[in-house]
Amino acid sequence: MSDPTFKIETPRLLISYLQPDLDSHCDFLVALYNTPEFIANNGKTPVTTRDFARRQLEGRFRAEHARNGYGTYLFSLRDSSNPSDLASATPIGTVSLMRGDEPGSYAAPDLGFAILSEYMKKGYTKEAAQGLMEYVEREQGVKEILGLHDPANKASGAVFRSLGFLDVGLRQLLVFGPDVVGQVWIKKGMNEDVSVYGLPKEAPPAAVAAGEVVKDMESVGAVAV
Ligand SMILES: CC(C)(COP(=O)(O)OP(=O)(O)OC[C@H]1O[C@@H](n2cnc3c(N)ncnc32)[C@H](O)[C@@H]1OP(=O)(O)O)[C@@H](O)C(=O)NCCC(=O)NCCS
Repeated sequence: MSDPTFKIETPRLLISYLQPDLDSHCDFLVALYNTPEFIANNGKTPVTTRDFARRQLEGRFRAEHARNGYGTYLFSLRDSSNPSDLASATPIGTVSLMRGDEPGSYAAPDLGFAILSEYMKKGYTKEAAQGLMEYVEREQGVKEILGLHDPANKASGAVFRSLGFLDVGLRQLLVFGPDVVGQVWIKKGMNEDVSVYGLPKEAPPAAVAAGEVVKDMESVGAVAV
């Protein structure tokens, strides 16, 4: 995550690493994690100051990239007069591929995303996710990707559907806690028996499904710091 020149280009966006030494990136993370939509779906996180955001980027974000070769990425709107220049692009969202290394972690990474309110519903998140998935498949051979989210988060489900993922229903997500239940999606072509990825084979009983739900990976990670 330390290469400041790394970028993936999509028609409208540049996907790059978040740089802890850039105040603008730290401030962007604070803004992103405090939109009304982010808080409604993921709750309040401790990422409310530039210094906390910087520690997150230096700590958890960097460690994930070092461990897996992928992690959380920034996506920015290309500047029309300088379309390939990262410094001229406007940060608008993050897209992530997360994979834990603790016992019980799933055998495929899961895709996460967030975008500033004023840029929502313009297809930018879908474009960033497609760009990242194509890149990791081509460069790192990562073909299998899960989608995990709070079943009440309709926007998340709509993005996975639009990306062509298959909805396999609710599953207990023990990695996130004994009572956590989430909506599970798989990328096209994956095994519909999600037990091969370490998830439960079947949906949980209704009583369990009515309990706690999974929160976005980014906020789960944020509070874990
Ligand atoms: C989820 C989120 C990232 C979606 O971002 P976005 O940029 O608006 O998504 P896109 O514009 O790329 O939309 C992709 C598809 O989802 C649909 N969609 C997006 N938001 C939607 C909503 N609130 N309700 C219904 N559909 C929605 C779009 O219409 C589009 O469908 P289409 O391709 O069939 O036309 C954004 O709402 C967000 O940041 N939410 C807060 C953070 C969060 O909850 N992250 C999810 C963690 S897994």
